[in-house]
Amino acid sequence: MNLKRIGLFVGFVVIILSAACIYFSLKYDVSMQPPNIVVIIADDLGWNDVSFHGADEIPTPNIDALAYNGVILNRHYVLPICTPSRTAFLTGKYPIRTGMQGYPLRGAEPRGIPLNNILLPEYLRRFGYATHLVGKWHVGYHTKNYGPTRRGFDNFVGYYNGYIQYFNHTLYENEQFGYDLHRIVGDNHTIEYRYEYMTDLITDEAENIISSHNPAQPLYLQLAHLAAHSSDAEEIMEVRNWEETNVTLGYIEDINRRKYASVVATLDESVGRVIDALKRADMLKNSIIIFIADNGAQTEGILKNYGSNYPLRGLKFSLFEGGIRGAACIYSPLIDHPSRVSTQLFHITDWLPTLYSAVGGNPNDLKQLDGIDQWSAIKSARDGKRKSVLMNIDEKNNEAALIGYYKLVRDKSEYQKYYDYSGNNALYPKYNATNVLASPAASAIANISTSVLNKNKIMQLRKEATVICKNFMDFSNCTNRTCLFNVYEDPCETTDLSSKYPKDVERLNVFIDRYKSVLMNQTNAPVDPAGFPRNFNDTWMPWLPDDYQSISEMHFTMNEVTS
Ligand SMILES: *[C@@H]1O[C@H](CO)[C@@H](O)[C@H](O)[C@H]1NC(C)=O
Ligand SMILES: *[C@@H]1O[C@H](CO)[C@@H](O)[C@H](O)[C@H]1NC(C)=O
Ligand SMILES: *[C@@H]1O[C@H](CO)[C@@H](O)[C@H](O)[C@H]1NC(C)=O
Ligand SMILES: *[C@@H]1O[C@H](CO)[C@@H](O)[C@H](O)[C@H]1NC(C)=O
Ligand SMILES: *[C@@H]1O[C@H](CO)[C@@H](O)[C@H](O)[C@H]1NC(C)=O
Ligand SMILES: *[C@@H]1O[C@H](CO)[C@@H](O)[C@H](O)[C@H]1NC(C)=O
Ligand SMILES: *[C@@H]1O[C@H](CO)[C@@H](O)[C@H](O)[C@H]1NC(C)=O
Ligand SMILES: *[C@@H]1O[C@H](CO)[C@@H](O)[C@H](O)[C@H]1NC(C)=O
Ligand SMILES: *[C@@H]1O[C@H](CO)[C@@H](O)[C@H](O)[C@H]1NC(C)=O
Repeated sequence: MNLKRIGLFVGFVVIILSAACIYFSLKYDVSMQPPNIVVIIADDLGWNDVSFHGADEIPTPNIDALAYNGVILNRHYVLPICTPSRTAFLTGKYPIRTGMQGYPLRGAEPRGIPLNNILLPEYLRRFGYATHLVGKWHVGYHTKNYGPTRRGFDNFVGYYNGYIQYFNHTLYENEQFGYDLHRIVGDNHTIEYRYEYMTDLITDEAENIISSHNPAQPLYLQLAHLAAHSSDAEEIMEVRNWEETNVTLGYIEDINRRKYASVVATLDESVGRVIDALKRADMLKNSIIIFIADNGAQTEGILKNYGSNYPLRGLKFSLFEGGIRGAACIYSPLIDHPSRVSTQLFHITDWLPTLYSAVGGNPNDLKQLDGIDQWSAIKSARDGKRKSVLMNIDEKNNEAALIGYYKLVRDKSEYQKYYDYSGNNALYPKYNATNVLASPAASAIANISTSVLNKNKIMQLRKEATVICKNFMDFSNCTNRTCLFNVYEDPCETTDLSSKYPKDVERLNVFIDRYKSVLMNQTNAPVDPAGFPRNFNDTWMPWLPDDYQSISEMHFTMNEVTS
């Protein structure tokens, strides 16, 4: 071999080796893989029940750590009740397009999200995601085709209905009693009879999913908590441990409020465990974690939970801010400018196109959505593209709300002014930023992050995220009338501007009317006794044949064929 040939040979080997290096680094560098996505949904959690909104009463150090290390979405709007809100999240559409805008789904009610809608996990599967739902479904299960494992989830451990008992996982509704805890893998459906506090059960399942996850595949994990939903029509909230609650939260005098606080504190602990599990599995560095409330707290009426939407007006079921301006934040190491409060308009329908974009999809592929891709607004702190939100139209009750520059609201709910538990009181321990920094969530984040969060920054962000109202007690009366508010300057909706700006009222009414042309009447149906648990060994189960079509869906299919 002469020198030239040796040179060529060495060159050749170098090329092969470097190609192999590039190949292996592409294959094994997880940052080349779409991000893992974990969505944590709290049920009926009030605006004022996370401590990053300024209340000292219920410390939520883990949720706060996500918020301060990520982006606080302080104008994140949701639907005022859970079935519509979850439908909006999963479809990226206003629920008026799917007939899901009305009263929440009841047990044995034969309806669900119409099958011609593609749900978020179905889209993510196209990008190779493993998809898991742990916790609440509540968007239809009358036939198996409407259940989570035929709508994009590989696995489901959880309940079909609106809520269950925290320990024994039963639902008593319409004088019907049944177990509602299922494990479904593909088509293998087993009923679980466990006696375990639901928040812990959800967390245990999440930890198992994360630790046994194949790192070569991106993960989509939706944790839809029972917390902080009331567990009983008689307003009895089940805490995990009463003694522990009295020790840690004994400074809260109102016993029901103390129980609620305990439920929220347990939820916060769960968030810490999940973030820590992601870190231990070496997945956190390529993850997006979203924390949202599905709607405001139910502070009065049936299934009252003793949450607080203070200082916002209204509650669950109402189109005032307390029902629809939900606590929310997002954390991801992929965010370029984290640790900020965003007051840009964001709607729960935006998550579908936003996540589609974040995983590398082209949101222009998505048709007929109301959601807007906000990924660059989150990741790069660009201006958001959303200028308005239709809060909902309830054509049966003649209620509607829409926000643009002003907010127009026509709401008939009985409780229009309720606020409670300001969250601050000299008896409560002062907010302690050290506790936030010492939380499991903050420690896990610090492990993978180069930017350092300090106490001053925490206090500054918290102050920025706190809503303060003027004229607090002096609410305009909106009972059975349409009111107009400037929620940017008057976040508590105290001052009705409708007589001052009648042209704006008219303009917004026209806007709402335009949406009426795409509205599908709500599909709420009478409960079907064939679906009662007594027919299924005391369990809430799908009860109709797979090919069953409800009248509303037949109508829908006909429309599609003819249009
Ligand atoms: C489930 O728990 C609730 C609340 O503690 C209780 O009222 C109900 O009797 C329990 N049901 C069963 C079957 O254990
Ligand atoms: C169905 O799931 C149960 C519980 O997870 C498991 O024990 C059983 O082996 C599964 N059956 C099949 C056929 O996969
Ligand atoms: C917790 O405190 C409440 C009210 O102070 C009391 O009624 C209850 O018995 C206490 N529970 C326990 C287990 O200590
Ligand atoms: C939808 O509901 C409205 C009133 O709520 C009713 O007038 C109309 O006939 C319904 N449309 C259909 C297609 O059922
Ligand atoms: C804050 O909490 C830490 C423990 O995390 C404690 O050492 C410190 O004394 C607390 N600070 C105040 C002002 O309570
Ligand atoms: C992150 O945690 C691991 C152990 O889980 C530890 O070995 C490593 O030193 C930590 N890194 C940082 C930057 O804290
Ligand atoms: C608000 O207006 C309604 C309907 O006009 C009336 O019945 C009610 O008493 C008013 N409420 C208050 C607090 O003024
Ligand atoms: C508001 O209107 C509803 C019917 O749309 C009626 O039942 C209720 O009594 C009215 N409330 C008041 C305070 O006028
Ligand atoms: C029926 O339900 C009971 C609990 O109520 C359970 O122990 C039993 O295993 C179930 N039977 C079957 C056949 O699934």
